[in-house]
Order: sequence, then C-alpha cells, then structure tokens
Amino acid sequence: MEGLVCVNDFEKEAMRKLGRSAREYYSSGADDEITVKENVNSYSRILIRPRMLRNVSTRDLSTTVMGKKVAVPLGISPTALQKLAHEDGECGTARAAETIGGIMIVAFFTTSSYEEVALAAPNARKWFQFFVHKDRSITEGVIRRAEMAGFEAMVLTLDCQYVGKRRASARNPIEFPQHLNLPNDTGDANGELNMSKLHDSMDYGVTWEAIPWLKRISKLPLVLKGVQTVEDAEVAVELGVDGLIVSNHGGRQIDTTPATIDILPSIVRAVGHRTEVYIDGGIRRGTDVFKAIALGAKMVEFIE
Ligand SMILES: Cc1cc2nc3c(=O)[nH]c(=O)nc-3n(C[C@H](O)[C@H](O)[C@H](O)COP(=O)(O)O)c2cc1C
Repeated sequence: MEGLVCVNDFEKEAMRKLGRSAREYYSSGADDEITVKENVNSYSRILIRPRMLRNVSTRDLSTTVMGKKVAVPLGISPTALQKLAHEDGECGTARAAETIGGIMIVAFFTTSSYEEVALAAPNARKWFQFFVHKDRSITEGVIRRAEMAGFEAMVLTLDCQYVGKRRASARNPIEFPQHLNLPNDTGDANGELNMSKLHDSMDYGVTWEAIPWLKRISKLPLVLKGVQTVEDAEVAVELGVDGLIVSNHGGRQIDTTPATIDILPSIVRAVGHRTEVYIDGGIRRGTDVFKAIALGAKMVEFIE
C-alpha cells in the first residue's frame, strides 16, 4: 500500500492487480462511457473561491444524516460482487465505514449476506439496497431480513431495471469463482455470471405505485437512489420518501445523462427543504466532497 495516497492511486493499483473479468466488471460504464467521464470531469470545472483568516484551528467534519450524527459526511455506495476483488468483500468495506464513521450501504447482489455484513461491523451505520421483485413477497422477505439484522434505512435503486449496455461484459461474461455466491439472492450464480439474467426476477414494470406499498410494509426510512430530474424528485417527495440519492449509477446504466453534480443544485432547490439529498458519481477527492456539500448535498457517497 506504500505510495498510495489518493483514490486514483488505489484505482490504478487495483487495475494492475485484478484479473481481466473483475477489472472490466468494476470499471465498465454504459456505451461510450461519456457519463462516466462527465461525472468526474464536472468536478474539475467547478472552481473554489476560498476565504481567508477564518480561524481553522478546530475542524469538525461531523454532520447529521437522517437525524443522527455521523463523523464524516461520507457514505459508501452500494456495489455488487465485492469478493471478486478481495476475500473480505463487503464485510471489509463495512469495517472501513465503521472506522471512518460514515454510512455503509450494502448492495443486494453482494457476495456476503446482509446479516454477515451487519455482524462484521456492528457499530457502523448501515443501510441496505434492494430492488422490487416481480414476486413482491420476495422483496418483503428481503426487507424483513434486513430489519432483523439491524439496518436502519432501505435504499431502493430506481435506475437498474435492466442492466446497462456495458460492452466489456457483452464481449466477455463475468467469471464468477465457484467458491462465491450471492446470499441475498435466491438464484444460484456459480460459474459465469450474467447480471441481466439475475435481474430477471425483478419487476421490469415497477412504477411509483411501489413507493406507498414500501412505506406501508416497513417503518424504515426509505431512500430512493437514481433520481436525476427535478420532476422525479418532486414525485418522490410528494410520496413521502425520506431521502434521495442523486445518482446515475456511475454512468453504468444510461450513457450521456448529465454529471450528477450538475443536476444536484436544481434538485436541492426544488426539494432540499422537504427531504435530505445525497449524491454519488465521480467523487474522487476531498474537494469534490466539499463542492457537493457546498451545492446542497447532505452526504456524498463513493465506492471503495
Ligand atoms: C462495480 C460496481 C457495482 C455496482 N453495483 C451496484 C448495485 O448493486 N446497486 C446499486 O444501486 N448501485 C450499484 N453501483 C452504482 C454505485 O452505487 C454508484 O451509484 C456509482 O458507482 C457512483 O459512481 P462512481 O463509481 O463514479 O463513484 C455499482 C457501481 C459499480 C462501479
């Protein structure tokens, strides 16, 4: 780990160490990856106007998220299949969130179960990410398990009904080692992994009607991930959701959507006084976090 001092260093090192299949899965965006690049580049175009002589002897990064204190305004976005990179997988990531005092969002298609992650990092604040299944009793079961495991909020991903057109995985299916599995899912994914097939049990026809249903079946706060327009933010808030993550899935779903940091201010202006607004996509350094917070985000998320 010597000499690795920023997220970009770690990314380069990971690309050097990982096998082709994992490398391609982790780094691929949709189509020409224009949004992947825009998410990052947009932060570089926003410049900081610093003020001086403001007494910076005490620096406190803590804030509140969902009414509870966090040491840093940082969360870890849900990402699937983390054991393709390291045997600790999602449990290791949760321990990192616990150490820095941020929020861990555990994905549905993880290589460790919600319960295992909860046990691995008992003191981390943990949210879980899920999808709506065609068979709603499966979704309800997922929520009950996460409730029992002590998760404190549920994050519904809106922008992944179908898996984005990632060219690398179209050319080469993801290799999934025999010793790994997807314990939150009911399917068996040994061997080659086709994310689109995995998503077949999800309800492609899901609409906003699912939101009141989710609010009825669970008392956990509901966060919607993947909001990209003021119009959808307004609908979400009307339906009483507790938080929004402005996200384009890191550019992995629909290419040529705008960078999330460019749409954040309009969404905050429209609904920021009625719900908490978080953001992910392209966050690679502390100044990116600063910019997102200055533009109204309550918390920013990145991936480990
Ligand atoms: C390898 C990988 C897997 C992901 N898996 C999921 C997932 O299972 N569920 C989900 O809601 N988002 C998933 N995402 C999207 C992230 O939660 C997040 O929105 C995105 O990565 C943020 O952009 P960034 O990669 O530029 O930080 C995944 C992203 C990556 C890179």
